[in-house]
This record gives sequence, C-alpha cells and structure tokens, in this order.
Amino acid sequence: MAIDERFLDELMNRLDMVDVVGRYCKLEKRGNRWWGCCPFHNEKTPSFTVDPEKKMFYCFGCKEGGGIISFVEKTEKLEFPDAVSLLARMVGMDVPTDEREKSIYKRRTRLLALNKEAARFFHSNLEKEISAPARDYMARRQISRKMVIRFGLGYAPDQWDGLIKAMVAKGFDKGELLDAGLAVKSEKGHIYDRFRNRLIFPIIDVSGNVLGFGGRVLDDSLPKYLNSPESYVYHKANHLFAMNLAKNSTAPQFILAEGYMDVLMLHQAGFDNAVASLGTALTPEQADLIKKRKGEVVVAYDSDEAGQKATERAIELLRARDIKIKILKMKGAKDPDEYIKKYGSDAFRLLLSGSENSSDYRLEKIRAKYDITDDEQKLAFLNEAITLVSTFKNSIEVEIYIGKLAEITGIRRETIEGEVKKSLKRQRRQNERREMRENTNPEKNAQPSFTRIRYQNVTLARAAEGILSLLAHNPELKGLVEERIKPEDLGEEALIHLYGEICAAIDNGIYPNPDTMTDKLTADERKLLAMILANTPDGSPKLLVLDYLGVVAMESAKSKAKVDAKGLEELIAMKRNDTRYGNGRNGSNE
Ligand code: UTP
Ligand code: MN
Repeated sequence: MAIDERFLDELMNRLDMVDVVGRYCKLEKRGNRWWGCCPFHNEKTPSFTVDPEKKMFYCFGCKEGGGIISFVEKTEKLEFPDAVSLLARMVGMDVPTDEREKSIYKRRTRLLALNKEAARFFHSNLEKEISAPARDYMARRQISRKMVIRFGLGYAPDQWDGLIKAMVAKGFDKGELLDAGLAVKSEKGHIYDRFRNRLIFPIIDVSGNVLGFGGRVLDDSLPKYLNSPESYVYHKANHLFAMNLAKNSTAPQFILAEGYMDVLMLHQAGFDNAVASLGTALTPEQADLIKKRKGEVVVAYDSDEAGQKATERAIELLRARDIKIKILKMKGAKDPDEYIKKYGSDAFRLLLSGSENSSDYRLEKIRAKYDITDDEQKLAFLNEAITLVSTFKNSIEVEIYIGKLAEITGIRRETIEGEVKKSLKRQRRQNERREMRENTNPEKNAQPSFTRIRYQNVTLARAAEGILSLLAHNPELKGLVEERIKPEDLGEEALIHLYGEICAAIDNGIYPNPDTMTDKLTADERKLLAMILANTPDGSPKLLVLDYLGVVAMESAKSKAKVDAKGLEELIAMKRNDTRYGNGRNGSNE
C-alpha cells in the first residue's frame, strides 16, 4: 500500500534528523553539519555527516547516504513501511489507514502553514508605525534586536481583525483561524483576533514548525499572557519553549525556567541552553524531551512559593528519569530575568556553577575517604555525610541528598531521613550553646560588631562610650570631662573622632544627631554614635561620668606604661648590639 504523501511530508516535518541518528551514534556539530563515526562501517575518526536542514546523511568513508527513512531501513534492517511506522511512533503519529485520518493530516499541514504566516505577520508589524507601544515596551525590558530576530518576536496590533484580514488575503479561511486558536468567536457569532495589542512570542518546535503563540500585555492589565489553545498542531504538554534553539547549545545541561521572558533574557545573557515549561508544572512528556537530549538540567523556576512547588514536582519527574538535577537558588530576585538584570550575567554564571556543585563536591570528598563495601566504613561514611547534609539550608537540597545517600549506601531513605533529622536537632542544640557562650562573653559582646570598627582595648572603649553618651545628653559635663582627659586618652580612633564632633555640636548648641552628620562622620561612625546615644547609663550623670573618667585615666596610663616598657626593651636591645658599649659581639675582646 502506498503511504499518503502528505502524511510523509508531515512526518518529515516533525522528525529531527539529528535526534533520530543520534540514537544510533554520537554526533557533534561542526559548521552546518553534524559529524560522527559511521554506523555502517568501522571507523575511529568521524567521516559520517548529517545535514539536519536537508534531513540527509552521508558518509565520506563508505559513501553510504540517503534520507531519514532509508537510514532507519538500513540500521534497523526494516522494509520501507515498517521504517515509516517506527519513525511515526517516535513522534507520536499513526500511519493513516483511512480517508478520515488523511484529512486530519491535511488539516495539520494547513494549520502549520497558517501559523507560519501569522508569525510572519506579527513579526513584520514591528517594522511599522503601529508597533510603537510594543517597541517602547521591549526597550523598557531591555530586549535586544538580536533576540527579537532569534525568537521571532512580533506585535499583534490593537485591532479586532488585523490578523484575520491579513490571513484571509493569504487564502486561509476563518474556520482555519478558529481551529488554530488565532481567532475567537463571540456569543453573538462575531469572529475576532485572539491576540490584540500584545507582544507576541511564537512557540516553535524542534523542526521549526510554529505551533502556537503567547502574547504579553504591554502594561499591568490582566491576563498578563494569552496563549494559543490546544489544537491539531499544539499540545502544550509535549513542548518546551525555545527547545528549537536550546537543542543546538553545546552546554552539557538545559536550564529550565518558568516563563517566556526568563528564557529570552537567559539567551540574551549568553545562556543558549534555556527552555521554559511556560508556567505549567513540568509534564512527563517535557521531562522525556529533556532526557532525550541531555542528561542534566538546572531548574531555575521562580523563587516564590508557586515556583518552589513546581520545582518539587519537576524534581520528581526528572529524578524518575535519572536526569541529573541542580536547583538554582536566586536570592534577591523573583526569576532569572530579574536576577540577570539586577546582578548581571556573570553572577548568574556563578550561580550555575555554584552551591549545588559544591555540595556534590563535598560529598564526593567524604565518600573518597571510605570503602563503602565494608560495613563498618559504610557506617562511618554515612555518619559524616549525614552531618554534612543536615547543614544544607534548602529543604529541597536536603531531600536530594538523602536520596543520593540512599542510593550510594543501599540503605532505606526513611532511615537516612530519620538520622538527618536527629543530626539537625543536635546541630541546633550546639548552635544555641555556642550563641549562649558568645552572648555571655564580655570581650566579644563589647565589640561594635554591627560595624567594621574593632576595639583594641574593650575596657577603655566601654568607658569612653559611657562618657560620650553622658556628654551628649548632659552638655554641662563638658568642662569636667575636658579638665580630666585629653581626646587621645579615649584610645580608639573612632571614639576620638566622635568625641570631637560631640564637643563641636555642644559648642554650636545642637544635639549630635547621627543623621545630620553625614559629611563629618563615616557610615560606621554614625552607626556607632546612634548605638552610643541609645545606651545612656542609668544614674546620676555626674557620678557616672567621674567613674568612667577614672577608668579611662587608668586604662590610658596602663597602655602608656606598655609603650614605655616597649621603648625600654628596644633600648636594651639596641645597646646590646652596639659596639660602643663594649658588650657587642665584636667589642668583647677590646
Ligand atoms: P510569570 O508571571 O512568572 O511571567 O509567569 P514571566 O515569564 O516572568 O513574565 P514577565 O517577566 O512578567 O513578563 C510565568 C509563565 O506563566 C505563563 C507564561 O508562560 C509565563 O511566561 N503565564 C503567566 C500565562 O500563561 N498566563 C498568565 O497570565 C501568566
Ligand atoms: Mn518575570
């Protein structure tokens, strides 16, 4: 039986030659072609090539060549119809057996043609005057011209039938526009454009077919995005946005994001391996798509609660397929788009190679220390690894590593989970104890640790702080203080500086408010001043200040004495080495 030509055409359209051949031999991209070792003859250096554009293969060694069907015929040793069925199964198509199905394929072909024309229409609008709002919007979001072209972005004009008119002129009918989801029918039976006054993102499959569209509003109105509905050609669960671009990336993994904008910005920042599941939870089909092309994925979903829930679901699906997963923790930003705009692409690159990696690395280091085929050593490994895992901050990360430990040791997840919980409790207790010790340590407590200032002599600094505070609130004490100490007696540079400024404020009859002293004090000094002003000791100011002045006098005398003692030692050392005193090495024989 002859196979319907339109069906074959559609099948060719959907098949990705590199994908199919890639199942039989490893291919590498060089120029426009993909190269690999020929599956038809024995060779060590690649002379076998695939041209994905033409969907042809050719071997420069054995001269074998042909199209995708003959490739499968040869490798699988199948007759033509069976090779076709096999290929059809790969892309979820059934070989048509009757007229009804034939007509469905015909319809699909028409819809794909319509979508392509619609994409052209939206894109070409960007050249026109009417698209000014869209161009402004893209400028505001910093979308480059290069990305507009790479993603084939477009603009749906603010009209009820802009697209309908243009497509009818191209020979499509309104029924087809409705089928493709490009037009909608009102209750009264009016047919109008679905996408109006929106920025258009075409959704393109790996073979370059336009399956549908997403359209974003140019302001804050709702819904933010409109998407093409399911159609003969678009089943959203089966596709990942931008896979058509990301499949050609040489990166070892995919970056999985939630939205159109995230993917676009990632590509713009140089991450050409980004794809998106478009706001829905990842589907099994999408996970299969990832698995088929790369064994590793970095999940970069939004950092909000919905995004984190979606991450958990994605992890399950991906893990079930043995795909290596990294979870990106974007602190200070909602999504990759925001992160890159805020911190730059280098920061994102760091994030990519970051924490999860280092967890792997740390675990690997522990593992290398033990021979886990030995029960005793396995236990020691597990103890150390569990301590490590229980320090992880992210609960998803903890989950992942509990799984890893279960896999490595063959011990039940639940058991390990229980041990991690125990270890967490233990560490929390230890932390509490340490904090307690630190809080009750006067030396540490006295440091202004909220600044970069560190006191040399804590006792002296404490007393000086007291004096400054009392002085600021009781200007009449100024004479008394000046009488007893010199500024440098306060020891710490910052405190000496503050003393000078407080005195100046008193002379000017104002309160030394840190907020108004921005030109006189450093940021740290202002913070310190605020703390000092807020901590005035209770009691009689005069008695207190006399007390503190006494401490300052004593401490500064002590440190002077230290300086003097040091001077004396130096003098002695100098004399010892000086021949003039007759006790030097050379002078002893005189
Ligand atoms: P987001 O709200 O995170 O959007 O939705 P975004 O991609 O970051 O877009 P910007 O930065 O606000 O422009 C994530 C994805 O969810 C789908 C879209 O696919 C979107 O990219 N979504 C969201 C819709 O389909 N409809 C909506 O109304 C909102
Ligand atoms: Mn966003």
